[in-house]
Formats: sequence, C-alpha cells, structure tokens
Amino acid sequence: MIKTIGVLTSGGDAPGMNAAIRAVVRAGCELGMKVYGINRGYNGLMENDMYEMHLRTVSDIINRGGTILYSARSDRFKTEEGMQAAIRVCRERGIDGLVVIGGDGSFRGARDLSLRGVPCVAIPGTIDNDIACCDRTIGYDTAMNTVVEMVDRIRDTTESHDRCAVVEVMGRGAGYLVLNAGIACGATSILMPEVPFDFERDVIERMKRTQRSNKVHFVIMVSEAIGGVDEMAKRIQKETGVESRATVLGHVQRGGSPTAADRILGSQMGYHAVQLLKDGIGNRVVATQKGEILDFDIFEALNMSKEIDLGLYKMSNEISI
Ligand code: F6P
Repeated sequence: MIKTIGVLTSGGDAPGMNAAIRAVVRAGCELGMKVYGINRGYNGLMENDMYEMHLRTVSDIINRGGTILYSARSDRFKTEEGMQAAIRVCRERGIDGLVVIGGDGSFRGARDLSLRGVPCVAIPGTIDNDIACCDRTIGYDTAMNTVVEMVDRIRDTTESHDRCAVVEVMGRGAGYLVLNAGIACGATSILMPEVPFDFERDVIERMKRTQRSNKVHFVIMVSEAIGGVDEMAKRIQKETGVESRATVLGHVQRGGSPTAADRILGSQMGYHAVQLLKDGIGNRVVATQKGEILDFDIFEALNMSKEIDLGLYKMSNEISI
C-alpha cells in the first residue's frame, strides 16, 4: 500500500503542468496519502528539496503557465551516484511512489528509478508532442495556439508590407508543432525534419506559382530542427524579389496560460497516475489515444515510434497556394 508519494516536473516546462500537479495532489490527499512537491525536477529529489503539499497548496494554479515546482534537466541524475542519492532521499522521506511530469528524457529517469525499487508513473508534459505512445502531450495544444496567435500578428504586418515572413517554430527534433500550427496559419510552405525538402522546389517555386495568381505576401514556417531562417529570408528576397523577414518565435511558445484542452488533459493524467500508484503500480507512462486515457510500460513506451501525419502535409501543400 503506497502511503507517501512525490511529484516533480522535469525537462522543458509546458503549460498544463500545474493542472497535472494539482490533480496529483488533490487525488493523493483524497486517498489519504502524504504528497511531497519536489522542486526543480530530479535535482530537488537528489538534494532533498521538497515540501508537503495539501489541498490548498494547489489552489489557483490550474490557470497558470510554467510549473509551481520549477523544472530542470539534470546530468547528475543520469549517473549511478545521482540515482543512489535520489533513492536515499526517497527512503528517508518514506516516498514509496513518484509522479514524474516531463518529456522522454525524464521518462528514462523514471524507468531507472522504477528498476531500482521506487515505483514511478510518468506523465507526458512537453510542447513538442514527441511522445510515441501518446496522441497529445500536455502543453502541445497551448503552444500550438500560441504559435498561431503570434504568426497571425506577424501576418498582419507581413500583409501591410507585401513581405514574406520566415518563422522558426520549436519542437526539438519533431515537426508536430510546426506542421499543425503551419496548417492553422495557412503557411505557403512548411519545412519539418520528417520530410526531406528541396528549398528551390518547396519554397521558391511554390512562392512563384502563387505570385502568378497575384499573391503578394507569404508565411513560411520552419522547424527549429532545420533552422537557418535568416539565410532563408535572404535567399527568398534575392530569388523572388519579395522583401523578407525572419522571426525566431523562441520561448514565447513555452509560456502562457494553458488552454482548456491542456488543463483537462493535465487533470486527467495526474488523476490517472495516482490511481496507478495507489495500487502499487509503477514503471508506467500515462497516455491518451483517441480521447481515452491509458497507460503503458515505460520500457515499451520508450521503444515505440509515432508517425507524423503525412496526409496533413500533403493537404497543406495542396490548399495553401
Ligand atoms: O522540449 C521543449 C523545448 O521547448 C523544445 O521545443 C526546444 O528545443 C527546447 O525545449 C529548448 O530548451 P531550452 O529551454 O533548454 O532552451
């Protein structure tokens, strides 16, 4: 019977993490558990930096971006010494279950801790949406809407000046954010790591073709995994004659109040994680597929792969002309 749990957020923060923390704390308290909030991810665990959370500790956070537990990426935790320090702290505090909210780097830590006898349940929180077993990660919907809002603003000025905007979008090695936000923004071209591209054919020629139907302003969206938006803007200007500007959206994409979808997903996943731990079940990743909340073995989840929807990419190329 698990009586004391810890919750931490690790890796890049994501809007909706607070909703997940709130759900973990409230569901844990409801079951009579003691719940520790661990500061700054695995660093806080190794350094015993935590505090007991109660029902009211998590009041008024469901609407807030970022994470009230702060977040970090930890190199020390990847070492056996770091891992043993974390296990020692868990023993001292009586923590017999842990909820880890983060991306796949954080999941590896949860897997290794589970292997060493501390049951962990991982929750996918990342704007990149790059967790294979999961249709949607916490933070992705908010980030997508932020990108759309920002690009809409860029579009206003791009339109006023008959320019081309070349916009870099986050996502690490994955193109989910740039593809889906790109469709929502009506981008003329979307460049992402999953689809090899030919700049001449996929950007310059597409722009020239739309110019022939009297289009005079353009938005090109580029994954950060490809980068080089400044050079792209210069090349576009030279080859098409359209004045061009590059924008790197950067960390604006990670902040802000979570959308309703992310608040609901964070709540569902946090609640589900505690129901697993309550029964002593660890080494699981909580996921959502086709609207259902389920869970997978962390080992299996880390070995899964997720295809990007190339049908969406094809559609975008056919209608954004
Ligand atoms: O994983 C989330 C993410 O925002 C990626 O999209 C991006 O590549 C990375 O984190 C940026 O990390 P940092 O905040 O450490 O610069």
